[in-house]
Amino acid sequence: MSNDKPIGVFDSGVGGLTVAREIMRQIPGERIVYFGDTARVPYGNKSQATIIRFARQIVRFLETHEVKAIAVACNTASAYALEVLEREIDIPIIGVVKPGARTAVRTTKNGRVGVIATEATIHSGMYTRYIHSIDPDVAVFSKACPLFVPLVEEGMIHDFVTEEIANRYLEELKRQHIDTLILGCTHYPLLRSLLGRCMGSEVELVNPAYETAVSLRELLREKDLLAEAPPEGRMPAHSFYVSDGADKFEVFANSILPYELRKTQIVDIETY
Ligand code: DGL
Repeated sequence: MSNDKPIGVFDSGVGGLTVAREIMRQIPGERIVYFGDTARVPYGNKSQATIIRFARQIVRFLETHEVKAIAVACNTASAYALEVLEREIDIPIIGVVKPGARTAVRTTKNGRVGVIATEATIHSGMYTRYIHSIDPDVAVFSKACPLFVPLVEEGMIHDFVTEEIANRYLEELKRQHIDTLILGCTHYPLLRSLLGRCMGSEVELVNPAYETAVSLRELLREKDLLAEAPPEGRMPAHSFYVSDGADKFEVFANSILPYELRKTQIVDIETY
């Protein structure tokens, strides 16, 4: 049986589009309702209480679209709010932290894993917690990289300034001889080639966005919620909502999605 209801995907802003992109690639039949909280971004420097409040409002908004499942595309919201949301809603919900942690444990050969993310995600300790729940012997080294988000949003993806900052941020992780690095923030997969150069070819980069899309596909299959695959060359009609700055959002979205976004609607998220 196929299920044509959409999947809700949300993030603090544009970054979660890296997760939406992977969902479009891995489960092309699924229709996405995306919400980017562009009026209240960044989440990465906010408290847990605030992030839980924001996440609850967004879930209530997505529920008005009768979503059959939700992907929390934001690492910070996954780290701080997912466990609360899981207890509060009846539909399947998945975050990006667990799939990323699971893959890192599978990938590491020397048992030394690095995590880079926002200050809030690092402070939550969630990546370390999930990794240790799978294998307590893996050593985890974390580093907050707060400048990466604005640099990516400024389009400085191939810029020498970003490369210089990356070298400084990653210096201490390199000294720890990690062989696996989790890109624990929505924006970091867009810096993949630069980060790969900086860490060297012996370090595997884990992209939780990709792993989340794969886990979501498994979850939908398990619950018998998968939509039918679309006919060759066709894509479902995805919809996109933000809390501010629709034009800027569209430019960013159209630069990274395998989908032409024509209309983004503004939502007054504080009313949910
Ligand atoms: N989406 C956030 C994350 O993955 C990064 C941007 C922000 O700080 O809100 O943690």
